Amino acid sequence: MMNNTIRVFVSRRIPAIGIDLLKKEGYQVELWSEDRPMTTEELMKAVKSADILLSLGENKLDTDFLQQNKHLKMISQFAVGYDNINIPEATRLGIPVGNTPDVLSEATADIAFGLTIAVSRKFFFNHKMIIEGGWGSFKPMAYLGQELSGKTLGIYGLGAIGIVMAQRCRGAYNMNIIYCNRTVNSIAEQKFDAVRVSFEELLGQSDVLSVHSVLSDETRGKFNAAAFKQMKPSSIFINTARGGIHNETDLIEALNSKTIWGAGLDVTNPEPMHKDNPLLSMENVAILPHIGSATVEARDGMSRLAAENIISYLNTGIIPHCVNPGAIQ
Ligand code: GLV
Repeated sequence: MMNNTIRVFVSRRIPAIGIDLLKKEGYQVELWSEDRPMTTEELMKAVKSADILLSLGENKLDTDFLQQNKHLKMISQFAVGYDNINIPEATRLGIPVGNTPDVLSEATADIAFGLTIAVSRKFFFNHKMIIEGGWGSFKPMAYLGQELSGKTLGIYGLGAIGIVMAQRCRGAYNMNIIYCNRTVNSIAEQKFDAVRVSFEELLGQSDVLSVHSVLSDETRGKFNAAAFKQMKPSSIFINTARGGIHNETDLIEALNSKTIWGAGLDVTNPEPMHKDNPLLSMENVAILPHIGSATVEARDGMSRLAAENIISYLNTGIIPHCVNPGAIQ
C-alpha cells in the first residue's frame, strides 16, 4: 500500500507531535475536531473508511464494534490502559492494538504521591473550608492529619507507574515498600527493598495502599467491603489506575464507618463523579478528575508513541508497544 493511500482516523484532538509524524509519513490523517468524545455511532461511521484508528479510552471498542470494523489494520490507543477494548476479540480478528506506556509514569505517580499527601493532611477539605468562609481561629485539636515518614506503602500492581510511586515515597519519607504483583519486580526489590506479599498481607500491613494495576476480570471490584475490612483503621487508600478496581459504595461505607482512615482517587466509578457524591465532602478524602497523564510532557509522549506504533507497524510489521502480539501473523 502506498503511504498516501493509508487513512488514519484520530478520534480526539491530541498534541500535534504525533499528528505531524503521521503526516510526514504521507498518510491521510483525519481528525475529530469537536471538543467532546465521539458517540459510538459517530465513531462507527468515521472508521468505516479508515485503515487505522488512533483511539482514546473513552470509546468502548467492544465485540460489535470490532466485528463491524474488522477491516482495521491496527488500533493505536492514546493511553496506557486498554480496558475499553475487547482485546481477545481484536486478537481473534487479527487487529493488533498498540498503547503508550512509560511516558506517563512520572506524571501518574505524581498524582498518586500528591493525593497521598493531600489526604494525609486534609488539603482539599481545608481548601474548601476556606472558600466557604470557615477559616476561624487556630484550633489545636482540629484538622489533625497523619505523617508519612517511615510508614509502609503497599502497592497493588507494581509496574512502571508503581515503581515511580515507590521511588517517590522511599525518597521523601523513607517508607517501607511492600507489593502484591503476579510477578517479582527485582528492580523494586533491589532499589527500594520492596517485599512481595500476598493480597491479604498487603491489606493488613499497608499504611498507604496505592493501586497501580490494570482493570481486568481479576482486578475488577477487588477493593470491596471484605478487602477494606482487612485494612488498618489508620490506612489511606489511593487509586490512580481505574475506578472499576474499587467498589465505590463499599469505599464510602468503609470511610463512614472508619474502617479505613482516608482515600485519594484520580479515577472513580462511574466517571465523571457526580458533584453530590458524599466522597467530595469528606474530610479525609481527595478526588481528582482522572488527570494522571495530564502534563505537557506525558501527553506529548503519548501522542508521539501512538504515532510511532503506527509508523513502525506499517514500515516493519513490528509495534513497539503492542498489547496483543498474537494478532500479528
Ligand atoms: C489513562 O488513564 C491511561 O490509561 O493512559
